[in-house]
Amino acid sequence: MAIILGIESSCDESAAALIGSDRTVLAHRLAGQEEAHKPYGGVVPEIAARAHVQVLTPLIEAALKDAGLTLDDVDAIAATAGPGLIGGVMVGLVTAKALAMAAGKPLIAVNHLEGHALSPRLADASLEFPYLLLLVSGGHCQILRVDGVGQYRRLATTIDDAAGEAFDKTAKILGLGYPGGPRVEALAKTGDPKAVPLPRPLLGSAEPHFSFAGLKSAVLRAAQSGAHRPEDIAAGFQAAVVDCLVDRLERALSVSSGSTSPEFPSPSTPPVGVAQDELQPLAEVEGRDRKGLSQGPSTSRRGREVHPERLACQPAEGLGTNGGGMFCPSEPKPKTLVVAGGVAANGAIRSALEALAARHGMGFVAPPLWLCTDNAAMIGWAGAERFALGLTDPLDIAARPRWPLDPEAEAARGAGVKA
Ligand code: KG4
Ligand code: ZN
Repeated sequence: MAIILGIESSCDESAAALIGSDRTVLAHRLAGQEEAHKPYGGVVPEIAARAHVQVLTPLIEAALKDAGLTLDDVDAIAATAGPGLIGGVMVGLVTAKALAMAAGKPLIAVNHLEGHALSPRLADASLEFPYLLLLVSGGHCQILRVDGVGQYRRLATTIDDAAGEAFDKTAKILGLGYPGGPRVEALAKTGDPKAVPLPRPLLGSAEPHFSFAGLKSAVLRAAQSGAHRPEDIAAGFQAAVVDCLVDRLERALSVSSGSTSPEFPSPSTPPVGVAQDELQPLAEVEGRDRKGLSQGPSTSRRGREVHPERLACQPAEGLGTNGGGMFCPSEPKPKTLVVAGGVAANGAIRSALEALAARHGMGFVAPPLWLCTDNAAMIGWAGAERFALGLTDPLDIAARPRWPLDPEAEAARGAGVKA
Protein backbone atom coordinates (compact mmCIF):
# COMPACT_ATOMS: atom_id res chain seq x y z
CA MET A 1 0.00 0.00 0.00
CA ALA A 2 1.31 3.45 -0.93
CA ILE A 3 0.93 6.24 1.63
CA ILE A 4 0.41 9.79 0.39
CA LEU A 5 0.68 13.00 2.40
CA GLY A 6 -1.98 15.42 1.12
CA ILE A 7 -1.82 19.18 1.68
CA GLU A 8 -4.63 21.67 1.00
CA SER A 9 -4.37 25.46 1.24
CA SER A 10 -6.21 26.92 -1.78
CA CYS A 11 -8.80 28.98 0.09
CA ASP A 12 -9.57 29.38 3.79
CA GLU A 13 -8.94 25.84 5.01
CA SER A 14 -5.47 24.60 5.90
CA ALA A 15 -5.41 20.82 5.95
CA ALA A 16 -3.07 17.83 6.00
CA ALA A 17 -3.95 14.17 5.59
CA LEU A 18 -2.29 10.79 5.24
CA ILE A 19 -4.10 8.55 2.79
CA GLY A 20 -3.47 4.93 1.91
CA SER A 21 -3.86 3.75 -1.66
CA ASP A 22 -6.34 1.19 -0.22
CA ARG A 23 -8.62 4.17 0.68
CA THR A 24 -7.66 4.26 4.35
CA VAL A 25 -7.73 7.74 5.83
CA LEU A 26 -4.81 7.29 8.23
CA ALA A 27 -5.04 10.84 9.55
CA HIS A 28 -6.78 14.10 8.71
CA ARG A 29 -6.23 17.47 10.32
CA LEU A 30 -8.01 20.66 9.28
CA ALA A 31 -7.86 24.23 10.55
CA GLY A 32 -10.54 26.60 9.32
CA GLN A 33 -10.07 30.37 9.33
CA GLU A 34 -13.68 31.34 9.98
CA GLU A 35 -12.91 33.74 12.84
CA ALA A 36 -10.15 35.56 10.92
CA HIS A 37 -12.42 36.30 7.94
CA LYS A 38 -15.70 36.82 9.79
CA PRO A 39 -15.39 40.62 10.21
CA TYR A 40 -15.03 40.99 6.42
CA GLY A 41 -17.95 38.76 5.40
CA GLY A 42 -15.75 36.77 3.02
CA VAL A 43 -12.24 35.42 2.55
CA VAL A 44 -9.43 38.02 2.53
CA PRO A 45 -6.59 36.50 0.46
CA GLU A 46 -3.69 38.06 2.42
CA ILE A 47 -5.14 37.00 5.77
CA ALA A 48 -5.70 33.49 4.39
CA ALA A 49 -2.13 33.16 3.10
CA ARG A 50 -0.65 34.31 6.42
CA ALA A 51 -2.84 31.89 8.35
CA HIS A 52 -1.70 28.99 6.13
CA VAL A 53 1.95 29.90 6.87
CA GLN A 54 1.23 29.74 10.61
CA VAL A 55 -0.70 26.50 10.80
CA LEU A 56 0.31 24.25 7.92
CA THR A 57 3.58 22.83 9.31
CA PRO A 58 2.11 22.06 12.77
CA LEU A 59 -0.89 20.45 11.04
CA ILE A 60 1.36 18.18 8.99
CA GLU A 61 3.33 17.22 12.11
CA ALA A 62 0.09 16.49 13.97
CA ALA A 63 -1.28 14.38 11.10
CA LEU A 64 1.93 12.32 10.97
CA LYS A 65 1.75 11.83 14.75
CA ASP A 66 -1.94 10.81 14.57
CA ALA A 67 -1.06 8.17 11.99
CA GLY A 68 2.01 7.04 13.94
CA LEU A 69 4.18 7.72 10.90
CA THR A 70 7.23 9.76 9.94
CA LEU A 71 7.99 11.38 6.60
CA ASP A 72 10.15 8.34 5.80
CA ASP A 73 7.03 6.16 5.72
CA VAL A 74 5.35 8.39 3.12
CA ASP A 75 5.62 7.38 -0.56
CA ALA A 76 4.75 10.76 -2.12
CA ILE A 77 3.71 14.27 -1.17
CA ALA A 78 0.66 15.75 -2.89
CA ALA A 79 -0.36 19.38 -2.58
CA THR A 80 -2.95 21.60 -4.21
CA ALA A 81 -1.12 23.57 -6.94
CA GLY A 82 -4.23 25.48 -8.09
CA PRO A 83 -6.74 26.79 -8.86
CA GLY A 84 -7.35 29.04 -5.89
CA LEU A 85 -6.07 32.08 -4.03
CA ILE A 86 -2.49 32.21 -5.25
CA GLY A 87 -0.89 33.20 -1.92
CA GLY A 88 -2.38 30.23 -0.11
CA VAL A 89 -1.71 27.82 -2.96
CA MET A 90 1.95 28.87 -2.96
CA VAL A 91 2.27 28.31 0.79
CA GLY A 92 1.01 24.73 0.49
CA LEU A 93 2.95 23.93 -2.67
CA VAL A 94 6.23 25.36 -1.37
CA THR A 95 5.78 23.43 1.88
CA ALA A 96 5.23 20.25 -0.12
CA LYS A 97 8.27 20.95 -2.31
CA ALA A 98 10.49 21.54 0.73
CA LEU A 99 9.34 18.29 2.36
CA ALA A 100 9.73 16.37 -0.90
CA MET A 101 13.23 17.70 -1.38
CA ALA A 102 14.31 17.12 2.22
CA ALA A 103 12.88 13.60 2.40
CA GLY A 104 13.71 12.61 -1.17
CA LYS A 105 10.06 11.85 -1.99
CA PRO A 106 8.17 12.47 -5.25
CA LEU A 107 5.96 15.56 -5.51
CA ILE A 108 2.45 15.46 -6.95
CA ALA A 109 0.92 18.82 -7.90
CA VAL A 110 -2.82 18.30 -7.60
CA ASN A 111 -5.53 20.32 -9.28
CA HIS A 112 -7.91 21.21 -6.43
CA LEU A 113 -10.86 20.53 -8.75
CA GLU A 114 -9.47 17.07 -9.48
CA GLY A 115 -9.37 16.55 -5.73
CA HIS A 116 -13.12 17.24 -5.59
CA ALA A 117 -13.78 15.27 -8.78
CA LEU A 118 -12.07 12.10 -7.51
CA SER A 119 -13.16 12.41 -3.84
CA PRO A 120 -16.25 10.22 -4.40
CA ARG A 121 -13.90 7.37 -5.37
CA LEU A 122 -12.19 7.65 -1.99
CA ALA A 123 -15.57 7.26 -0.30
CA ASP A 124 -16.95 4.58 -2.60
CA ALA A 125 -14.63 1.84 -3.86
CA SER A 126 -17.27 0.64 -6.31
CA LEU A 127 -17.44 3.94 -8.23
CA GLU A 128 -15.95 3.31 -11.65
CA PHE A 129 -15.21 5.56 -14.62
CA PRO A 130 -16.95 7.02 -16.53
CA TYR A 131 -19.31 9.03 -14.34
CA LEU A 132 -21.28 12.21 -14.74
CA LEU A 133 -20.13 14.74 -12.16
CA LEU A 134 -21.84 17.83 -10.84
CA LEU A 135 -19.01 19.83 -9.27
CA VAL A 136 -20.52 22.53 -7.08
CA SER A 137 -18.26 24.61 -4.86
CA GLY A 138 -17.63 28.19 -3.84
CA GLY A 139 -15.82 28.97 -7.08
CA HIS A 140 -17.21 26.49 -9.61
CA CYS A 141 -20.43 25.02 -10.89
CA GLN A 142 -19.77 22.53 -13.65
CA ILE A 143 -21.11 19.34 -15.18
CA LEU A 144 -18.25 17.08 -16.23
CA ARG A 145 -17.90 13.73 -17.80
CA VAL A 146 -15.15 11.96 -15.86
CA ASP A 147 -13.54 9.27 -18.00
CA GLY A 148 -10.48 8.65 -15.85
CA VAL A 149 -7.76 10.34 -13.82
CA GLY A 150 -6.84 13.49 -15.74
CA GLN A 151 -9.62 12.87 -18.29
CA TYR A 152 -12.39 15.39 -17.91
CA ARG A 153 -14.80 16.79 -20.41
CA ARG A 154 -16.73 19.79 -19.29
CA LEU A 155 -20.35 19.67 -20.41
CA ALA A 156 -21.46 22.87 -18.73
CA THR A 157 -20.32 25.66 -16.48
CA THR A 158 -21.70 28.80 -14.92
CA ILE A 159 -21.84 31.95 -17.00
CA ASP A 160 -21.58 34.12 -13.87
CA ASP A 161 -21.61 33.09 -10.20
CA ALA A 162 -20.91 29.64 -8.77
CA ALA A 163 -23.65 27.95 -6.74
CA GLY A 164 -21.66 28.22 -3.50
CA GLU A 165 -21.02 31.88 -4.19
CA ALA A 166 -24.79 32.40 -4.51
CA PHE A 167 -25.30 30.65 -1.14
CA ASP A 168 -22.62 32.85 0.45
CA LYS A 169 -24.09 36.05 -1.02
CA THR A 170 -27.59 35.09 0.06
CA ALA A 171 -26.27 34.48 3.58
CA LYS A 172 -24.62 37.90 3.54
CA ILE A 173 -27.82 39.60 2.34
CA LEU A 174 -29.79 37.85 5.08
CA GLY A 175 -27.17 38.76 7.69
CA LEU A 176 -26.32 35.14 8.44
CA GLY A 177 -22.54 35.56 8.26
CA TYR A 178 -19.85 33.46 6.62
CA PRO A 179 -19.58 30.74 5.38
CA GLY A 180 -23.08 30.97 4.09
CA GLY A 181 -24.06 27.59 2.67
CA PRO A 182 -24.72 25.66 5.89
CA ARG A 183 -26.44 28.69 7.48
CA VAL A 184 -28.80 29.23 4.55
CA GLU A 185 -29.57 25.51 4.56
CA ALA A 186 -30.35 25.56 8.30
CA LEU A 187 -32.61 28.63 7.98
CA ALA A 188 -34.34 27.24 4.89
CA LYS A 189 -35.57 24.28 6.95
CA THR A 190 -37.93 26.59 8.85
CA GLY A 191 -39.17 28.54 5.82
CA ASP A 192 -41.79 28.11 3.07
CA PRO A 193 -40.02 27.60 -0.28
CA LYS A 194 -43.08 28.87 -2.19
CA ALA A 195 -43.67 32.08 -0.22
CA VAL A 196 -41.20 34.24 -2.19
CA PRO A 197 -41.32 34.06 -6.00
CA LEU A 198 -37.72 33.85 -7.21
CA PRO A 199 -36.36 33.34 -10.75
CA ARG A 200 -34.74 30.17 -12.08
CA PRO A 201 -32.09 31.58 -14.50
CA LEU A 202 -31.42 29.60 -17.70
CA LEU A 203 -34.16 27.07 -16.91
CA GLY A 204 -34.93 25.22 -20.13
CA SER A 205 -32.14 26.78 -22.19
CA ALA A 206 -30.44 24.62 -24.82
CA GLU A 207 -26.90 24.44 -23.47
CA PRO A 208 -26.79 22.95 -20.00
CA HIS A 209 -25.00 25.97 -18.49
CA PHE A 210 -25.81 27.63 -15.16
CA SER A 211 -26.44 31.20 -14.04
CA PHE A 212 -27.00 32.41 -10.49
CA ALA A 213 -26.37 36.17 -10.66
CA GLY A 214 -30.01 37.03 -11.43
CA LEU A 215 -31.20 34.86 -8.56
CA LYS A 216 -28.83 36.64 -6.19
CA SER A 217 -30.17 40.05 -7.30
CA ALA A 218 -33.74 38.81 -6.81
CA VAL A 219 -32.83 37.67 -3.28
CA LEU A 220 -31.45 41.15 -2.60
CA ARG A 221 -34.62 42.81 -3.85
CA ALA A 222 -36.82 40.45 -1.82
CA ALA A 223 -34.80 41.17 1.32
CA GLN A 224 -34.80 44.94 0.73
CA SER A 225 -38.57 44.99 0.20
CA GLY A 226 -39.06 44.05 3.84
CA ALA A 227 -42.13 42.07 2.77
CA HIS A 228 -40.74 38.60 3.44
CA ARG A 229 -39.49 36.51 6.35
CA PRO A 230 -35.74 35.67 6.04
CA GLU A 231 -36.50 31.95 6.43
CA ASP A 232 -38.91 32.12 3.47
CA ILE A 233 -36.28 33.88 1.35
CA ALA A 234 -33.68 31.24 2.33
CA ALA A 235 -36.11 28.40 1.54
CA GLY A 236 -37.16 30.03 -1.75
CA PHE A 237 -33.53 30.60 -2.74
CA GLN A 238 -32.50 27.03 -1.98
CA ALA A 239 -35.51 25.66 -3.89
CA ALA A 240 -34.55 27.82 -6.90
CA VAL A 241 -30.96 26.51 -6.81
CA VAL A 242 -32.23 22.93 -6.59
CA ASP A 243 -34.56 23.50 -9.57
CA CYS A 244 -31.72 25.01 -11.64
CA LEU A 245 -29.27 22.21 -10.84
CA VAL A 246 -31.84 19.50 -11.61
CA ASP A 247 -33.02 21.15 -14.85
CA ARG A 248 -29.48 21.66 -16.14
CA LEU A 249 -28.51 18.08 -15.33
CA GLU A 250 -31.72 16.86 -16.97
CA ARG A 251 -30.68 18.81 -20.05
CA ALA A 252 -27.17 17.34 -20.04
CA LEU A 253 -28.60 13.84 -19.62
CA SER A 254 -31.27 14.30 -22.30
CA VAL A 255 -28.66 15.41 -24.81
CA SER A 256 -26.22 12.67 -23.87
CA SER A 257 -28.90 10.03 -24.35
CA GLY A 258 -29.78 11.54 -27.75
CA SER A 259 -33.32 12.58 -26.79
CA THR A 260 -33.15 16.33 -27.33
CA SER A 261 -36.46 17.86 -26.47
CA PRO A 262 -38.10 20.22 -28.98
CA GLU A 263 -39.20 22.69 -26.31
CA PHE A 264 -35.62 23.85 -25.76
CA PRO A 265 -34.81 27.07 -27.63
CA SER A 266 -32.38 27.10 -30.54
CA PRO A 267 -28.72 28.02 -29.88
CA SER A 268 -29.29 31.46 -31.41
CA THR A 269 -31.60 32.32 -28.51
CA PRO A 270 -29.75 34.16 -25.74
CA PRO A 271 -29.82 32.25 -22.46
CA VAL A 272 -32.82 33.16 -20.31
CA GLY A 273 -31.92 35.98 -17.93
CA VAL A 274 -29.00 37.23 -20.05
CA ALA A 275 -29.54 40.25 -22.27
CA GLN A 276 -28.13 39.93 -25.82
CA ASP A 277 -25.80 42.89 -25.26
CA GLU A 278 -24.36 41.14 -22.21
CA LEU A 279 -23.08 38.27 -24.32
CA GLN A 280 -19.34 38.62 -24.71
CA PRO A 281 -16.85 37.03 -27.08
CA LEU A 282 -15.33 33.77 -25.96
CA ALA A 283 -12.73 34.30 -23.27
CA GLU A 284 -9.38 32.56 -23.50
CA VAL A 285 -8.94 29.52 -21.33
CA GLU A 286 -5.60 28.28 -20.06
CA GLY A 287 -4.01 25.26 -21.67
CA ARG A 288 -2.42 22.49 -19.65
CA ASP A 289 0.99 20.99 -20.05
CA ARG A 290 1.17 17.99 -17.75
CA LYS A 291 2.58 14.64 -18.65
CA GLY A 292 0.29 11.80 -19.53
CA LEU A 293 -2.72 13.91 -20.38
CA SER A 294 -2.37 14.70 -24.03
CA GLN A 295 -2.69 11.89 -26.55
CA GLY A 296 -2.42 12.35 -30.31
CA PRO A 297 -3.05 16.10 -30.27
CA SER A 298 -4.68 18.08 -33.04
CA THR A 299 -5.14 21.84 -33.08
CA SER A 300 -8.45 23.57 -32.46
CA ARG A 301 -9.56 26.74 -34.19
CA ARG A 302 -8.23 28.62 -31.17
CA GLY A 303 -4.81 27.00 -31.41
CA ARG A 304 -5.20 24.54 -28.55
CA GLU A 305 -4.76 20.80 -28.60
CA VAL A 306 -7.95 18.81 -29.07
CA HIS A 307 -8.52 15.19 -28.07
CA PRO A 308 -9.20 13.00 -31.12
CA GLU A 309 -12.44 11.73 -29.52
CA ARG A 310 -13.71 15.28 -29.24
CA LEU A 311 -13.01 15.95 -32.90
CA ALA A 312 -15.00 12.85 -33.79
CA CYS A 313 -18.05 14.13 -31.88
CA GLN A 314 -20.57 16.25 -33.67
CA PRO A 315 -22.48 18.91 -31.75
CA ALA A 316 -25.85 17.56 -30.66
CA GLU A 317 -28.86 19.33 -32.10
CA GLY A 318 -29.60 22.56 -30.27
CA LEU A 319 -26.12 22.93 -28.82
CA GLY A 320 -23.08 25.04 -29.60
CA THR A 321 -19.68 23.45 -30.18
CA ASN A 322 -18.94 23.56 -26.47
CA GLY A 323 -21.84 21.42 -25.34
CA GLY A 324 -21.95 19.26 -28.42
CA GLY A 325 -18.36 18.10 -28.34
CA MET A 326 -18.91 16.30 -25.10
CA PHE A 327 -21.72 13.99 -26.05
CA CYS A 328 -20.47 11.18 -28.21
CA PRO A 329 -23.03 8.52 -29.07
CA SER A 330 -20.19 6.01 -29.46
CA GLU A 331 -18.97 6.50 -25.89
CA PRO A 332 -20.37 4.46 -23.03
CA LYS A 333 -23.05 6.40 -21.18
CA PRO A 334 -22.05 7.09 -17.57
CA LYS A 335 -24.00 4.82 -15.25
CA THR A 336 -23.55 6.94 -12.17
CA LEU A 337 -24.42 10.50 -11.25
CA VAL A 338 -21.92 11.94 -8.79
CA VAL A 339 -21.94 15.21 -6.87
CA ALA A 340 -18.86 16.75 -5.24
CA GLY A 341 -17.65 20.09 -3.83
CA GLY A 342 -18.76 22.12 -0.83
CA VAL A 343 -22.35 22.65 -2.02
CA ALA A 344 -22.72 18.86 -2.30
CA ALA A 345 -23.02 18.94 1.51
CA ASN A 346 -26.50 20.44 1.10
CA GLY A 347 -29.19 17.94 2.06
CA ALA A 348 -31.91 19.31 -0.25
CA ILE A 349 -29.53 19.20 -3.21
CA ARG A 350 -28.37 15.66 -2.40
CA SER A 351 -31.97 14.39 -2.15
CA ALA A 352 -33.02 16.07 -5.40
CA LEU A 353 -30.03 14.62 -7.26
CA GLU A 354 -30.62 11.17 -5.85
CA ALA A 355 -34.20 11.30 -7.15
CA LEU A 356 -32.95 12.58 -10.53
CA ALA A 357 -30.48 9.70 -10.80
CA ALA A 358 -33.23 7.21 -9.95
CA ARG A 359 -35.49 8.69 -12.66
CA HIS A 360 -32.70 8.09 -15.17
CA GLY A 361 -31.87 4.60 -13.93
CA MET A 362 -28.46 5.78 -12.76
CA GLY A 363 -26.59 5.09 -9.57
CA PHE A 364 -25.92 8.04 -7.28
CA VAL A 365 -22.80 8.79 -5.24
CA ALA A 366 -22.27 11.74 -2.93
CA PRO A 367 -19.23 11.80 -0.62
CA PRO A 368 -19.79 12.11 3.14
CA LEU A 369 -20.26 15.73 4.23
CA TRP A 370 -16.71 16.18 5.59
CA LEU A 371 -15.30 15.14 2.21
CA CYS A 372 -17.48 17.63 0.29
CA THR A 373 -16.05 20.85 1.70
CA ASP A 374 -12.33 21.56 1.26
CA ASN A 375 -10.08 19.02 2.93
CA ALA A 376 -6.69 17.37 2.47
CA ALA A 377 -7.98 13.80 2.22
CA MET A 378 -9.27 14.46 -1.29
CA ILE A 379 -5.89 15.95 -2.27
CA GLY A 380 -4.08 12.93 -0.79
CA TRP A 381 -6.49 10.62 -2.63
CA ALA A 382 -6.06 12.43 -5.97
CA GLY A 383 -2.33 12.12 -5.28
CA ALA A 384 -2.74 8.38 -4.68
CA GLU A 385 -4.67 7.96 -7.95
CA ARG A 386 -1.99 9.89 -9.87
CA PHE A 387 0.88 8.12 -8.09
CA ALA A 388 -0.57 4.74 -9.10
CA LEU A 389 -0.35 5.89 -12.73
CA GLY A 390 3.22 7.18 -12.33
CA LEU A 391 2.12 10.81 -12.62
CA THR A 392 4.54 12.81 -10.49
CA ASP A 393 5.75 16.37 -11.01
CA PRO A 394 9.07 18.22 -11.07
CA LEU A 395 10.03 20.35 -8.07
CA ASP A 396 9.97 23.53 -10.17
CA ILE A 397 6.28 23.18 -11.07
CA ALA A 398 4.46 26.50 -10.68
CA ALA A 399 1.34 27.30 -8.69
CA ARG A 400 -1.62 28.17 -10.92
CA PRO A 401 -4.35 30.57 -9.81
CA ARG A 402 -6.49 29.34 -12.76
CA TRP A 403 -6.38 25.75 -13.87
CA PRO A 404 -9.42 24.36 -15.67
CA LEU A 405 -9.99 20.60 -15.46
CA ASP A 406 -10.84 20.55 -19.15
CA PRO A 407 -8.47 23.00 -20.88
CA GLU A 408 -10.11 22.35 -24.22
CA ALA A 409 -13.55 23.47 -23.11
CA GLU A 410 -14.57 26.72 -24.68
CA ALA A 411 -15.83 29.49 -22.46
CA ALA A 412 -19.59 29.57 -22.03
CA ARG A 413 -21.44 32.38 -23.75
CA GLY A 414 -22.31 35.06 -21.24
CA ALA A 415 -20.95 37.74 -18.99
CA GLY A 416 -18.35 37.26 -16.27
CA VAL A 417 -17.10 33.85 -17.28
CA LYS A 418 -15.13 32.27 -14.45
CA ALA A 419 -14.19 28.77 -15.44
O1 KG4 B 1 -15.51 23.08 -1.99
P1 KG4 B 1 -15.52 24.18 -1.01
O2 KG4 B 1 -15.28 23.85 0.43
O3 KG4 B 1 -14.52 25.31 -1.40
C1 KG4 B 1 -14.29 25.67 -2.72
O4 KG4 B 1 -13.50 24.96 -3.38
O5 KG4 B 1 -14.92 26.64 -3.15
O6 KG4 B 1 -16.94 24.89 -1.17
C2 KG4 B 1 -17.29 25.96 -0.35
C3 KG4 B 1 -18.67 26.39 -0.72
C4 KG4 B 1 -19.07 27.67 0.00
O7 KG4 B 1 -19.63 28.55 -0.95
C5 KG4 B 1 -20.10 27.17 1.00
O8 KG4 B 1 -21.07 28.15 1.32
C6 KG4 B 1 -20.72 26.02 0.26
O9 KG4 B 1 -19.63 25.39 -0.36
N1 KG4 B 1 -21.39 25.09 1.17
C7 KG4 B 1 -22.72 24.84 1.13
C8 KG4 B 1 -22.98 23.96 2.20
N2 KG4 B 1 -21.81 23.70 2.85
C9 KG4 B 1 -20.84 24.40 2.19
N3 KG4 B 1 -23.68 25.30 0.31
C10 KG4 B 1 -24.94 24.86 0.54
N4 KG4 B 1 -25.28 24.05 1.56
C11 KG4 B 1 -24.34 23.58 2.40
N5 KG4 B 1 -24.68 22.76 3.40
ZN1 ZN C 1 -12.96 23.27 -3.04
